[in-house]
Amino acid sequence: MKRILVLTGAGISAESGIKTFRDADGLWEGHDVMDVASPFGWENNKELVLDFYNQRRRQLLNVKPNKAHYALKELEKKFEVQIVTQNIDDLHERAGSKNVIHLHGELLKARSTFDENLVMDWKQDINVGDFCEHNFQLRPHVVWFGEAVPMFQTAAEIAEKADIVIIIGTSMQVYPAAGLLDFAPPSAPVYFVDPKPNINPKGKLEIIEKTAVQGVPYLVTKLLKDK
Ligand code: APR
Repeated sequence: MKRILVLTGAGISAESGIKTFRDADGLWEGHDVMDVASPFGWENNKELVLDFYNQRRRQLLNVKPNKAHYALKELEKKFEVQIVTQNIDDLHERAGSKNVIHLHGELLKARSTFDENLVMDWKQDINVGDFCEHNFQLRPHVVWFGEAVPMFQTAAEIAEKADIVIIIGTSMQVYPAAGLLDFAPPSAPVYFVDPKPNINPKGKLEIIEKTAVQGVPYLVTKLLKDK
């Protein structure tokens, strides 16, 4: 079976009702990203950061995967599909995709501020005073600006073995995620689905200038037919 690496960003979840980051003048739901998504922001105002993610979590529980998420599940009929997402939502999993790596963490998990390996499922709000078993404050299990991206090495090793690469709905501005493409073999065709594509031309690149809901089912049908 041929291997497909799919790199997704905020754009794939936009039509499910989750706003992207950079389509709104650098503000994220009205906040400077450094106030709500950095270690500095956390030290400065834990309540603000927790409240911000609590709102995102409540919103996530009220939205659904869209046709783009479901189309990627269909690809598994004929390909070995590995999704690497920058998104912290669980919409790929809810659409049924089997192999999903979250580069930037997961909104429906909390972790200890004492032991970063102590991670737990968490669907409610996280509040100041919610402690781990060692009595340290819990925080969202997300990667903030300025923090390491522990899953990147695994993702890079998968990219090295890809026969085909699909990139969906990302501004390709945040590293190391945006550099993942450099690990794929130069011979692998690259498909990029985004209504405002921003990518350096490289090898066999095909740009599909459409939204995820329009472009991904179209691409999946084509790949399943070509096979
Ligand atoms: N379908 C597909 N793509 C879309 C759609 C849509 N309906 N609407 C917008 N887009 C595209 C935009 O054109 C843009 O290229 O989605 C991309 C969104 O870019 P960003 O907001 O920068 O999101 P992303 O690339 O995922 O951001 C990367 O930055 O803030 C951090 O950690 C956060 O994971 C995030 C990372």
